[in-house]
This record gives sequence, structure tokens and C-alpha cells, in this order.
Amino acid sequence: MRITVKTGEPGSSAADILAIPVFSPGKEKKGAGPKADRPRLSGALARLDRSLGGVIDRALESGDFRGQADQRLLLYPDAHAGKASIQRLLLVGVGAAEEFDIEGARRLGGAAASESRERKIGRLTILAPRARGLRAEDCAAALAEGAVLGAYRYDRFKKGGRGAAAKKNAAPNTTLLFERAEGLAQLRGRAKEGGLLAESQNVARDLSNAPGNELPPAGLAREARRVARETGLTCRVIRGAELERGGFSALMAVGQGSANPPQLIVLEHRGGRKRNKAGPLCIVGKGITFDSGGISLKPSAGMGDMKHDMSGAAAVVGALRAAALLDLPAHVVGIIAAAENMPSGTAYRPGDIIQSRAGKTIEITNTDAEGRVVLADALDYANEKFSPEAMIDLATLTGAAMIAFGPWATGAMGNDDALIQEIQSAGEEASERMCPMPLLPEHLREMRSPVADLKNAGGREAGVSTAGAFLQQFVGDTPWAHLDIAGTGWTNRRTPYHRQGATGVGVRMLIAWIRARVQQNA
Ligand code: BES
Ligand code: MN
Ligand code: ZN
Repeated sequence: MRITVKTGEPGSSAADILAIPVFSPGKEKKGAGPKADRPRLSGALARLDRSLGGVIDRALESGDFRGQADQRLLLYPDAHAGKASIQRLLLVGVGAAEEFDIEGARRLGGAAASESRERKIGRLTILAPRARGLRAEDCAAALAEGAVLGAYRYDRFKKGGRGAAAKKNAAPNTTLLFERAEGLAQLRGRAKEGGLLAESQNVARDLSNAPGNELPPAGLAREARRVARETGLTCRVIRGAELERGGFSALMAVGQGSANPPQLIVLEHRGGRKRNKAGPLCIVGKGITFDSGGISLKPSAGMGDMKHDMSGAAAVVGALRAAALLDLPAHVVGIIAAAENMPSGTAYRPGDIIQSRAGKTIEITNTDAEGRVVLADALDYANEKFSPEAMIDLATLTGAAMIAFGPWATGAMGNDDALIQEIQSAGEEASERMCPMPLLPEHLREMRSPVADLKNAGGREAGVSTAGAFLQQFVGDTPWAHLDIAGTGWTNRRTPYHRQGATGVGVRMLIAWIRARVQQNA
């Protein structure tokens, strides 16, 4: 998607859609006359409206459009009233001016771009709102993010989704129009960064949306290599005999029921000056390309959704891509444990006792609790091989997290309160909510086995935390956090910049986290 930043009057940019943010009527100061009961237009907008025949004013005067957040109204200006260069006006409600923030700008960008994409429209102009609480450059970044996310579609398997036809049906060329010209170069820089970040989130969505037949573990490795080649990351893939030599018994056990062999994928971004002692930041992702449950087979209703059981891995690829393209001065390593969980004559079984890379034995009490098993080896590898400064894993790990949080929050737990707090504030900045969950000694006790060092599945109680307690056994003393994205990785709800399917959750939060770490160390 092409994004241009310009400055000028609202009518100065030819457009198929001109998206106009409208604030809801604010609370008037005491003694400043009667309370406003309809949204107001700025002087420049009122001038434009008059030149277009007053269609905006009529909509506002009618009371039909009050500027509440996410309200939308499409208007067709009088073609004979001049300014034929503007085909449509899209009023987008953005709520009270005092409350307008980065997320408000992201939603505005998303609403405008998704309306345009829906109509296969080529040129979109978005007027940047002026609000006291939001700096223009932050607004530029958020509008670009929202626009790129809002224009996203997963349509490569639909007629017109690929090749020449796809071009016609592509994301709109988008202009962000600012009223004032100060700091234009900075606005452009930040819009570009916002676009890159959101494109990386879309790469994660593409991976997550891809069905299991398109993206088995080797396919995920192929995509990781492609992203690495395009962005200057290094990529190493461990598979076959090398996995065996490396002691990845747990990852191999989960993958052994499938004809598509498991892979361990390592992506690395070496940004900034080499600092001597401190290790990298490690991001570890669950990459189950399809989770049937294995011999502990899942019910068939909704099983197809388990093609997105590699959303943690997708977030890792997206975040590493963004870190490279944004040239973040940090050393970041992404590690993905990729496998397909299938039932077959070679599958691992309930009752099996398997080895893990860390040397701890695991009794398999449920083959559907496979995510923690593959992560056990990935976390141990990350810890031993890279001695990370901090480590975060992302996984669609438990149905319990989906029940607990729905699509509204990610469950966050770990062994380091400061790290959890960093993740919470990074999540706030990115508007990806992180909700802390406890890890208690009792949770670990639930994972004890009479015949092995651990068992892989606890009971129904505290399912999010017992899974976390299991993972903790493989991270040593490294500051570590586990993010359960089972609820947030996939959505059935439409929002201004999300639609049904993969969300790409984690990418924005991880980049905010890495940026905060860089600042802290500077
Ligand atoms: N991938 C699933 C968890 C999941 C469920 C993610 C729904 C997204 C939406 C995971 O592998 C799983 O099956 N977990 C089991 C664990 C249980 C057997 C201890 C679960 O939560 O039921
Ligand atoms: Mn499972
Ligand atoms: Zn799973």
C-alpha cells in the first residue's frame, strides 16, 4: 500500500474517498454559551463543505451523525458544485476531542481504508484530525498503521485474489493530509514506520490465515527464509537428523505422527553496535501448523480453526521482519518450534514417556497439550544457546485462555515482575491488552507425574497457569514471560482494522517492547 503525507487544505487532494474525522460535541466551558448539540466543522472544512453544496452540514444538522467513535457515513457531494475532484466523503466519528488518542487515529485509518477497499477504490485521502492530546507525528504513524491493517484481506485463494486481477482489487493509494506543514519530513518518516510495522503484522496474519496444507512446518520454514532474504535477517532451520543430534526429542515426539516433519526455525536480527556481555532478546513462538489434537483427537466442530495454531510463530516472523526493516538497534533472536500434531500409526500416544532437550522426562497424558511440549525444547534451546537478556514466548496454548479472556486480552505470566510490567506497558502503547496471570507453586504441583519428571496436561482447573508452570521448567533463571494468545490470535469480530480471521497479535506489542528496551539501555 502506498502512503503519501501532504499538507494543505482539506479540498486540496483529489480523491475517490475523502475521509473526514468528526469529533462528537464536546463539553462546553461554563459561561461559553449553550452546550453544543451537534459536531462542529473547522473553518477550512466548512469552506470545503460549502463548495461541495453543504452536504456535510446537512448531515450534521439532521442529528443523524453525531461523531461517536467508529460511526460512519458515506456522502456524495453535489457534482455540479465544483470540486469534482472529490468523489465521496466518508465521515468517521472519532469521539470526544479530549479523549482522542493513538488508538483513535489507528481506528480512523482502519475505517477509511477498509471502506475504500470494500469499494475497490483507488485513491483515498484521510484528513488528519487535530487533537491537543496527540502529537501530529504520532498521529501520522497511527493513521498509517490503521490504514494498512484496515485494507488487509486474505483473498489469495479467491477468484481475483492473485495475479493481474489482484492488482485491480488492491489496497488504495492513501494520502494523509495534514493542515499544518511544520515537520513534514518527520511526519513522513513516522508514517513510513507505521506502514512498515503494520505490513509486518499483515505478514503474520497471512501466515496465520494460511491453511495447514499450504503451510506445513517446512512451508513455515520456507516463508521465514523468504522474509529473512527480503529484509537482511539471518535464518537457520534445523530439521531431520540435526534435530535428533540436537536432542530435540519433545519437538520430534509431537511431530512424529505427521508426514510433514518438524522444523526448528531461528531468525536473527543483529541491530545496533555490538554490546559485549548482554545477550539478545529472544522471542519464541509456538508453530503448530495444524493441531488435530493427535490421538487425543479434538471434536470435529471448529477443528479447522486450528490451522492458526502457529499464530505465536507468525508473531515471531512479523516482529523480526519489523525489527529488521525499522533497523532497530537491538540484537533480537526469533525461535519457532514448528510441527504438525496428527493422529496416525506413528503418532505419540497418551501414556508415552518422552525425553526433552533439557533432560527432563515428560509423561504424555493428553496428546492435545502439544504446544507446551514443543515449546519446552525451543525455550531450552533459546536459553542454552543464546543466554538471552530476556525471553518472551507467544503461543495459542490453551482453550482456557480463550474462555478467560476472549479476543480482548492476552494472558501474561512469567518469572520476572519487571518484565511483565514492561510487556503490559508495551501492550498499552500498541493497544494489545496484556493481562497478568499468576504462576503459583500449586500450579506446578498439578504438573507432577508419578512416572516422569513432569506430565504435559493438568486438569481443567487453572489451565492457563498450569501450562505456564510447565513452561517455566525449561527457562532456567532467565527473565522470561509467557503470553497465551489463544483468544487474541484469531477473531470472529469486525473492528475498524480487524476482520474475521488471524489478528497478527503480538507484532506491535513486541516492537514497542524492543523499542522501550533500546531506550532503557541507551
Ligand atoms: N491449540 C490448543 C489451544 C487452543 C484452543 C488455541 C482454542 C486456540 C483456540 C492447544 O494445543 C490445546 O489443545 N490445549 C488443550 C490443553 C489441554 C489438553 C490440557 C486445551 O486447552 O484444551
Ligand atoms: Mn492441542
Ligand atoms: Zn495446539
